[in-house]
Amino acid sequence: MTRKLKVDRAIYLVDDNLRTYAFLKRNPHWSRLSPRQTQANKLQLDGYTRIFRDGRRQVLHLHRRSESDRPSLPTLTTARLVLRPFTLADVPDVQRLAGDREIASTSLHIPHPYPDGVAEQWISTHKDRFVRDEAAVFAVTRADTGEVIGANGLEIRRDHARAEMGYWIGKAFWNQGCATEAGREVLRFAFEDLQLERVFAEHFKRNPASGRVMQKLGMTREGELRRHIKKWGVREDIVIYAILRSEFSHQDEGARSASTG
Ligand SMILES: CC(C)(COP(=O)(O)OP(=O)(O)OC[C@H]1O[C@@H](n2cnc3c(N)ncnc32)[C@H](O)[C@@H]1OP(=O)(O)O)[C@@H](O)C(=O)NCCC(=O)NCCS
Repeated sequence: MTRKLKVDRAIYLVDDNLRTYAFLKRNPHWSRLSPRQTQANKLQLDGYTRIFRDGRRQVLHLHRRSESDRPSLPTLTTARLVLRPFTLADVPDVQRLAGDREIASTSLHIPHPYPDGVAEQWISTHKDRFVRDEAAVFAVTRADTGEVIGANGLEIRRDHARAEMGYWIGKAFWNQGCATEAGREVLRFAFEDLQLERVFAEHFKRNPASGRVMQKLGMTREGELRRHIKKWGVREDIVIYAILRSEFSHQDEGARSASTG
């Protein structure tokens, strides 16, 4: 049976290459939709179209996304950590941990003192920003206790297939390998699940611990941006590191062969 999706006086279809087309009443011919238009029309691309020789099209499994179909940030696990979406129940923990002056001092976007309402506002943007493919922000929690100990997030630029990674870990948990363990899993997520090509990260030059995390993640130091940022009235040098998808795979293979001897 031929099924077409009729929504708001339009008919949509999707072809074998997952390209979508619309047939609008006010502009009655099949026009190809860009990925952005497809997303704006909330079309779920889990179907395909059979195009017969005589031009008839058969549309299968094309439907409009409902709220419940929206992609949601997954929960990831590592040996000691669970990386999961933040919820509003985490607000007091975020405010307490990120409220430490030493966290704000080497971060770009964390205010100090940390005002009421900022954590709520930040967390409440996460769902929509993930759906819009703009960001993926994980709460870093301990697998044994469930306690929130930090955050790791990707700022995604889909048009360039790249993301910037940013992170912080509560001071009580520093130097136990947590930022590195979380970062490695987020890189895997970026390259394997989000299919990005490049992840970069920046740190203040006076923050070598973060540079060390980037090195341990197999990132390459690409350079220094001198006096690039003004933080609390002081001009700061920034160091930039990055890793490409091909390098992450190699690193992974290296790690596997090392562990299997
Ligand atoms: C940077 C930060 C995330 C590191 O978290 P962490 O969980 O302690 O990181 P890890 O334990 O995985 O690795 C830290 C590494 O830095 C090293 N390190 C710590 N202090 C250092 C210093 N002053 N100089 C050089 N290396 C240092 C540690 O020895 C460790 O390396 P090692 O495993 O080779 O011994 C944490 O300090 C933090 O949240 N800082 C404030 C916010 C911030 O700076 N975020 C990053 C913004 S770019």
